[in-house]
Amino acid sequence: MTTVTDASDSDTRVVPVFEGESLDGPLQGLIDSGEAKAGPKKTAVFHEDGRRVILVGAGKRDDADAERLRVAAAAAASRAKEVGAKSLAWDVPDVAGATTGVVQGTLLALYSFDQFKSKKDDNGIASLELVGGSEDEANTAQVEAESQNAARDLQNLPANVATPEFLAERARKLEGVEIEVLGRDEIVAQGMGALASVAQGAYAEPQLIVMRYDGGGGGPHLGFVGKAVTFDSGGISIKPAAKMHEMKFDMSGGAAVIEAMGAIARLGLPAKVTGVVGATENMPSGRSVRPGDIVTAMNGVTIEVNNTDAEGRLVLADALAYAVEQGAEKLVDLATLTGAILVALGHTYAGWFSNDDAWMDTIDAAGKATGELGWRLPLHPEFEDSTKGKYADLQNVSEARDAGSIYGAEFLKRFVDGRPWVHMDIAGTAWGMKRNYVGNGASGFGVRTLVELARSAK
Ligand code: BES
Ligand code: MN
Ligand code: ZN
Repeated sequence: MTTVTDASDSDTRVVPVFEGESLDGPLQGLIDSGEAKAGPKKTAVFHEDGRRVILVGAGKRDDADAERLRVAAAAAASRAKEVGAKSLAWDVPDVAGATTGVVQGTLLALYSFDQFKSKKDDNGIASLELVGGSEDEANTAQVEAESQNAARDLQNLPANVATPEFLAERARKLEGVEIEVLGRDEIVAQGMGALASVAQGAYAEPQLIVMRYDGGGGGPHLGFVGKAVTFDSGGISIKPAAKMHEMKFDMSGGAAVIEAMGAIARLGLPAKVTGVVGATENMPSGRSVRPGDIVTAMNGVTIEVNNTDAEGRLVLADALAYAVEQGAEKLVDLATLTGAILVALGHTYAGWFSNDDAWMDTIDAAGKATGELGWRLPLHPEFEDSTKGKYADLQNVSEARDAGSIYGAEFLKRFVDGRPWVHMDIAGTAWGMKRNYVGNGASGFGVRTLVELARSAK
């Protein structure tokens, strides 16, 4: 869709407006009359020589970066779509990251999920030309945005379609990634009693999806681990009906890992990455795990399952232990783990937790570079103490309801073998974000950060 050119015959030209700067000829008139503004998301439409021009606010040039341009490009794309544009040509400003921002903001904003609608939403805009801007940067940005949109598709698909086996099938289609999938029998045979306990109540076959990519490069062996509970009813500790349908999104961490692996392979990044996605439903049935049951994870740690709705940490316990066993040296997991993180950080920041400051800094830098924000919350021995079980090593929930997101992180820490690890609780950011380029539906959060990590991790 994206091409870099010097001149363009697209029907719509997009021009960024920077605070305090003037534009050529008649466009300046729109600024003078107050119709075009430099403020974020402000747009104005104008016609010049038989062509449409959309002016879009881009703030102060000194503050401009990829993220500002994502926001501006999304606003321009939405306006362009509204006025019936078919082809866009962006005047890419001479600002670091502008090409990335324009490409990603446009592609992410034009995403729609209409495969189950009889009447398709024809977004109409078929091409994006970049006047100025870098070709290589445009290609990379496009791969990242397409992968993020692919993760959004997986998220949006309902749980009767996007089953664990469906996710595994999707992973098998990734080019340049080696795949291994364990089904229920192998999960049990590997001693993954925590993952197996979540899966035991469901008819759907659970899958541990393992993806391997080796692009060399001499960096650390990275382990990307994702929670993919394709539907979280809560199990026997069943959830209330309101909003339960949103629990089809409980596979968002896994979707991000799968599509990030695909992007990393498409880009041929010099990195070694193993992706591990624990995929299962969490359902109530006569075979379900019961509150009070004790199970044993792959690393030998025993767990009292006191609440079957705290299933994500059970799934991740074995997925993390498996990534460790596969030799991953630095780990990051993504999971829609706790409703509490939404209370703490809203839809703007993911919750970050780590046992290693240097690895946390690397991930913080990757997040900042991609505009996917996170905020670190603490671990502490007092929280760790509360994860200790009465009858087993751990309990998956405590009676106290305080610090719920940290509790989840402390629990996971027991499965990473002391290796540098970051846990990203994305329960607030996987959907419902207010960032205009992803709307407020499924966001594909995490794909860009994981790709950036494969690029930058040392
Ligand atoms: N998938 C949920 C967390 C969640 C809730 C994500 C709302 C997005 C929106 C997770 O499996 C869960 O149920 N967590 C429980 C943990 C509790 C039982 C300790 C929660 O947050 O209520
Ligand atoms: Mn749950
Ligand atoms: Zn869940």
